Amino acid sequence: MNSSFFRKKSIDKIVSDQIEMEKLEGGFMVRNLGVRDLTFLGVAAIIGASIFSAIGQASANGGPAVSLLFVFTAVACMFTAFCYARFAATVPISGSAYTYAYTSLGEIVAWILGWNLLLEYAISNVAVAISWSKYFVDLVEGLGFHIPDYLTMDFLSAKRAYAEAQVAMSQGQLLESLSVNVREGYAAYSTAPLLFGWHFVANIPALLITAAITYLVYIGIRETKNMNNILVILKLLVIVIVVGVGAFYVQVDNWSPFAPNGISGVLKSVAAVCFAYIGFDSISTTAEECTNPQRDIPKAMMWALLICTVLYVLVTLVLTGIVPSESLAGIEDPLAYMFTQVGLHGVAGVVAASAVIALTSALLVYQLGQPRIWMTMSRDGLLPKAFSNIHPKYRTPSFSTIMTGVLVGIPALFANLEEVINLSSIGTLFAFVLVCGGVLILDLDPENQKKSKFKIPYINAKYWVGLCFVIGVYFYLPDAASWSNYWNAHWIGDARVDHFLLSGFFIIWLVLAYFSFTINLSLIPVLGLLVNLYLMTQMGATNWERFLYWCIAGFLIYFSYSYRKSKLHV
Ligand code: ALA
Repeated sequence: MNSSFFRKKSIDKIVSDQIEMEKLEGGFMVRNLGVRDLTFLGVAAIIGASIFSAIGQASANGGPAVSLLFVFTAVACMFTAFCYARFAATVPISGSAYTYAYTSLGEIVAWILGWNLLLEYAISNVAVAISWSKYFVDLVEGLGFHIPDYLTMDFLSAKRAYAEAQVAMSQGQLLESLSVNVREGYAAYSTAPLLFGWHFVANIPALLITAAITYLVYIGIRETKNMNNILVILKLLVIVIVVGVGAFYVQVDNWSPFAPNGISGVLKSVAAVCFAYIGFDSISTTAEECTNPQRDIPKAMMWALLICTVLYVLVTLVLTGIVPSESLAGIEDPLAYMFTQVGLHGVAGVVAASAVIALTSALLVYQLGQPRIWMTMSRDGLLPKAFSNIHPKYRTPSFSTIMTGVLVGIPALFANLEEVINLSSIGTLFAFVLVCGGVLILDLDPENQKKSKFKIPYINAKYWVGLCFVIGVYFYLPDAASWSNYWNAHWIGDARVDHFLLSGFFIIWLVLAYFSFTINLSLIPVLGLLVNLYLMTQMGATNWERFLYWCIAGFLIYFSYSYRKSKLHV
């Protein structure tokens, strides 16, 4: 017991908490998961709103070249996957990154990681619910029913579309000539009933599906291995249909130019692409249920990342090959949309129906995961006791489950898909940075390295990090010509923030180059840290501002409540 912010929880305590939790949840876990099951679990968690929805706006931003961003981001995730595997082998329980951090990096780091996992689990599910809603509405329309537009989208999207349509119409354009999403938004906003002077536009299906899933989780539904495998096969099948059928309708001309908005256009899609890989880390939480976790977890993570990357690249190429990428702006159901554009309404219907089922399974994964993290944090005293209450009949963390439902359902009513994805991605990347950094800190003690059953393949980073730094600075330098503009720019201008972030990134890179040289750091975690950090720098000023407010709120809660209530407090 001590009063330091960096106090650590012992592995013995973690294991005994785990045993108690499993008893409450109805028995110990059976070790029966192999590489294939784990890979399926990973794919189940990874494939979701991104490929079904966000890929539309991402392609509009960057064009077909977004496919390359998928490959680059997958590599960053692979580096991170090694670090997750290393932690999962060190802390031999099925905890999350939060637990790993608590035992190795100290309480305050664990807290902020847990706080950001909220963005990865609950807030990302807001996006999945919005995506689900869009495909559900398509499906219902296909069956001949029409849900009023103002009950199927968020207020902000409708208001923006309405304003855009008004400007276009005042310039003499016809409403019919505008894009689908602008027309739908216009219709939603102009037909919405007024509530205290506000246009009532809300995404009701997103709320309802969240409520339904929350209910299922509350009464104790568990994903069974078999059910999960069936749903994953269904997900893969939809994507195979999309790629297989779509390939015949690709017009190669649409791929040129490959990056219509240049590198900056491609990088505008960083958030959507990072979001696409969220979930691969969930494999590490099954350490207790694997026959051979040290061998199988890293393998399964790599397989899941590889499978998803291939699918993402193919889908992006098919999508941008069938419809011109700029026409995908704001389209939240691009996979069904592209088939309707080429007159394949039947295929669009099949895709919409399968997407609804596939996205339901993705919702379930995160809706189950979030309460478990809260329950652990509450048992450590960092959250109020209610968060670890177990329902006497259903044996589920009842309060945490309801809170997760509220936290996902209410924003799903009003939130805009792109903004939710941005916030979720930046928080998740931050968690990845901490995990990679955590491994570097953990391995400073040779004893820890000896104890771990899983070793990240060691490549001495000694010269590499410095060498890459010099190359990186060389490529960045031409931009330094704009430094004078930079200093003259408006104090809070976005360009200035970008420079500031990138400068910070280069400083951290330099520091890592120094330590790589002096203490021979391991290359893989260093690269993981740097690439994730770089991706974070591309998120733009607005997202950073929101993310900082998010972290400040987290620290305020920690200092005003969690620090004092922690079970480790003196
Ligand atoms: N990776 C998950 C998705 O794309 C979060 O929806």
